[in-house]
Amino acid sequence: MNSDTASGESSIPVLATIPEHVAIIMDGNGRWAKKRLLNRIKGHEKGSETVRSIVRAGRKIGIKYLTLYAFSTENWQRPKAEVKALMHLLERFLKKELQEMQDNNIRLFTIGQQEKLPEKVRARLQKTMALTEKNNGMQLNLALSYGGRAEIVRMVRSVAKQAVSGEIAMDAINEDVVARNLHTADMPDPELLIRTSGEMRISNFLLWQIAYSEIFITDTLWPDFSQEEFFNILKEFQNRDRRFGKTNT
Ligand code: FPP
Repeated sequence: MNSDTASGESSIPVLATIPEHVAIIMDGNGRWAKKRLLNRIKGHEKGSETVRSIVRAGRKIGIKYLTLYAFSTENWQRPKAEVKALMHLLERFLKKELQEMQDNNIRLFTIGQQEKLPEKVRARLQKTMALTEKNNGMQLNLALSYGGRAEIVRMVRSVAKQAVSGEIAMDAINEDVVARNLHTADMPDPELLIRTSGEMRISNFLLWQIAYSEIFITDTLWPDFSQEEFFNILKEFQNRDRRFGKTNT
C-alpha cells in the first residue's frame, strides 16, 4: 500500500465490505512516552494526533460510526495532573478539529457520564455536538468518563423506571429495549473492535455492544498506529468468517 509518510495519509484500499461501526481502545500512550524518556502527557499529545489521523481515515474509507475510548470511568483515578492534561487536550482537540469535522461532514457525539466532566469541557462538547448535529458522513463517538458497567446500571434504572410507571410492560422488555436505553441507542453494534498496545483485555468498554464484534489486537502503541495499519486491519476483517453463533454450511 502506498503511504505518504510525511503527511501520514495513506491511500484508500478497495474493500468489499466496510464495517459500519468500528470501536477502538486506544492504549499505549504512556508506554510510548516512557520508551522515549518523556512525560506520559507527551504520549497523550502524540496520541491525539493519531486520533485526528484515524478519524480522517475512517471518514475516507466510509465508516459510519467510529467509537474511540478516550477516557474511562477508571481513568479518574490517575494522577490529578494527568487527568487535567487529558481534559485540556480534549478541549483543544474539539476546538482545533471543529472546522475539519464540518468540512468532512462528521458529527460529534459522546457516550459516557458527561455530567462528570469539567464544565469547560462539557460546554465545548455541547457546542461541538450542536454545531455538527446535522452532519451525516460519519459519527465520531468519543467515549468520555465511560464505563460499560456504569452504562448497564444506567440502562437498568431507566428501564425499571419505565416499567414502574407502566410505560412498558415487564414482558415487553427484550434485547431491543435494552439496546435503546444504552448510550449507543440507534447505533448499530460495532462489527469490529481494535485494541492497540497488545493487551488482551476489554477494559469495561461497550460490554453489551461487542457481543459479536470481531476483535483485533495489535502490539502497536496508539501514538504509532497509522492509517496504513488501520486499513490493513480493515482488509483482514474482510476475511473473518462472521457466523454469529451459527454454522456456515
Ligand atoms: C491509554 O494510554 C490512553 C488513554 C487513557 C487516553 C486516550 C487519549 C488520547 C488518545 C488523547 C486524547 C484524546 C482525544 C480524543 C483528543 P495509557 O496512558 O493507558 O498508556 P499506557 O497503558 O502505555 O500507560
